[in-house]
Amino acid sequence: MMPNGRRVREPETEAQPTLDDLIAVRLSRRDLMRGALVAGAVAGFSAPFVAGDAAAEGFEFPEVEAGVDETHHVAAGYEAEILLRWGDPLFPDAAPLDPRAQDAERQRRQFGYNNDFVGYLPIAGSSEHGLLVVNHEFTNSELMVPGLGPQSRKTSLNLLSREQVAVEIAAHGGSVVEIRREGGRWRPVLGSPYARRITAETPMEMTGPAAGHPRLRTVEDPEGRRVLGTINNCSGGLTPWGTWLSGEENFHYYFVGNLPEGHREAENAKRYGLGQPFYGWGRFHDRFDLAKAPNEPNRFGWVVEIDPFDPHSVPKKRTALGRLKHEGAAGIVAKDGAYVVYLGDDERFDYVYKFVTAGRVDPHHPAANRDLLDAGTLYVARFDADGTGRWLPLVHGTGGLDAGAGFETQADVLIETRRAADILGATRMDRPEDIEANPRTNRVYVMLTNNGRRQDEQVDAANPRPKNAFGHIIEMLPEGEDHAATSFRWEILLRCGPPASGATFSAATSESGWFGMPDNCAIDGRGRLWVATDGNSRKATGRADGIWAVETEGPRRATARHFFRVPIGAEMCGPCFTPDDETFFVAVQHPGESDDDAIPTSFDQPSTRWPDFEPGMPPRPSIVAVTRKGGGAIA
Ligand code: FEO
Ligand code: CA
Ligand code: CA
Ligand code: CA
Repeated sequence: MMPNGRRVREPETEAQPTLDDLIAVRLSRRDLMRGALVAGAVAGFSAPFVAGDAAAEGFEFPEVEAGVDETHHVAAGYEAEILLRWGDPLFPDAAPLDPRAQDAERQRRQFGYNNDFVGYLPIAGSSEHGLLVVNHEFTNSELMVPGLGPQSRKTSLNLLSREQVAVEIAAHGGSVVEIRREGGRWRPVLGSPYARRITAETPMEMTGPAAGHPRLRTVEDPEGRRVLGTINNCSGGLTPWGTWLSGEENFHYYFVGNLPEGHREAENAKRYGLGQPFYGWGRFHDRFDLAKAPNEPNRFGWVVEIDPFDPHSVPKKRTALGRLKHEGAAGIVAKDGAYVVYLGDDERFDYVYKFVTAGRVDPHHPAANRDLLDAGTLYVARFDADGTGRWLPLVHGTGGLDAGAGFETQADVLIETRRAADILGATRMDRPEDIEANPRTNRVYVMLTNNGRRQDEQVDAANPRPKNAFGHIIEMLPEGEDHAATSFRWEILLRCGPPASGATFSAATSESGWFGMPDNCAIDGRGRLWVATDGNSRKATGRADGIWAVETEGPRRATARHFFRVPIGAEMCGPCFTPDDETFFVAVQHPGESDDDAIPTSFDQPSTRWPDFEPGMPPRPSIVAVTRKGGGAIA
């Protein structure tokens, strides 16, 4: 969910209908699979796709009770420490948060708002000393600014002053924070040479096939290669060469105004949902006004690569990975050494993608991988009803992606990735969020959060629920367990939601163990799946968002257990383990937001004042470090 009590953040645009809609496959994938196996007709795969071979360990922890209240809850026997809060100083000269004195200068030296992706990069291989990289997705000014009151689309666009908008701009982006664990307690290292804030104004470079293209050029940047800032950084990923990938998601909310009549970007703008601004930045900055800077939106919606070990490095927007509402960018090294990044486009009826580099990862020379993500092949997924699937290449000159369809070059294919994927006949999914490959099993987990707009006649094998309110999780297995392969098998691991909704949690799952709306996920060092949710609430599921451990192997497959619960109004983001699995970092995003349209919240009347619980202090999005009392690996 995105901003606040307004709860308008459900995606608005839809893809064109594909063949899937027309065929409307009704058979369950398991039935088809059984039939196919009997007939010996599963082309291209020798073994049945059945889980249970890998001897993964089960989860062991006492469950948190599902529910909603003003604070967080972690499984008994574990400690949850608040590590970083919005407004915490990241530099020795930074001011602590004083919401009544907040300005952009202060915010640029403080931890940003709405922490989403969290990545831990060890220093010298340590699980007790490293860099934490964190995305700051968006701002809730109604909770940040005293006296502003509950906000609607209209007021949030028009009420904020230039200085308040400057605070919003400075609270977006990301943070690099050196952290260390001493005496069992994690602490930020003040004075670290790595400390960095990236904001919606940090200079960045456009790289890859679309860099410099005329459609990326603006008055401020006639070369089309230099852009200010990154916005709506949702989930992300870490690379084996020590960089941080950050997904630009709902960039369309930041552009006011209308394109000039008959502008060539009109269809592109429509496909990405422009024209529904949520932020009024364009009142003070021409580049966020479509009428004045029609190409500026083409410079957002990319994956940004950042080297957190070099605080002076210029972040790079890697255009080869396509332009979409990027959720995450988690990757894995393929058999031949190519790097494969899995990408979800979080919109109802949008797609699952992957990018395969042309070059190979050099594990011994991190610098040799510096521009690996600038060349390779972007693919979009088609999930077939027989449990197989194809990765369709988004390559100019193939599959109808040519001048006849308005794609003059590969740059056009990338700038309008969604339209290119429409033409290829990709499968329209129920809002793909995080996608993670399990390095132990090579199975890939796709979080599909929900899609209330899918009609009966639009269901297909991979999205089998009409008005999918609670989402589901798909498991994919690349052909030959090779992530660079162009075919795969898949099945639905889990239909989420309450038991009566047709959910498929195992019978061993408790009343607290089921959940709806899977969003982020992580695989721990033992190859086990942890799921974070966005959208549970008193009304939707009678429970707050949180973390659930999900068994994927053996007889307990599809059993879920509740490990952590967020305070009211928040969503759960960023789950991330240290290499030794002894610390589990989780991100509590937008605590204090409304969880019910009928009860709007504000700075003065938040739904909680977590985590400080001080009068006059607003709720603060925070990173929480979870460890086991007495030490040892989590769960
Ligand atoms: Fe920012 Fe798709 O969640
Ligand atoms: Ca989020
Ligand atoms: Ca998300
Ligand atoms: Ca979400």
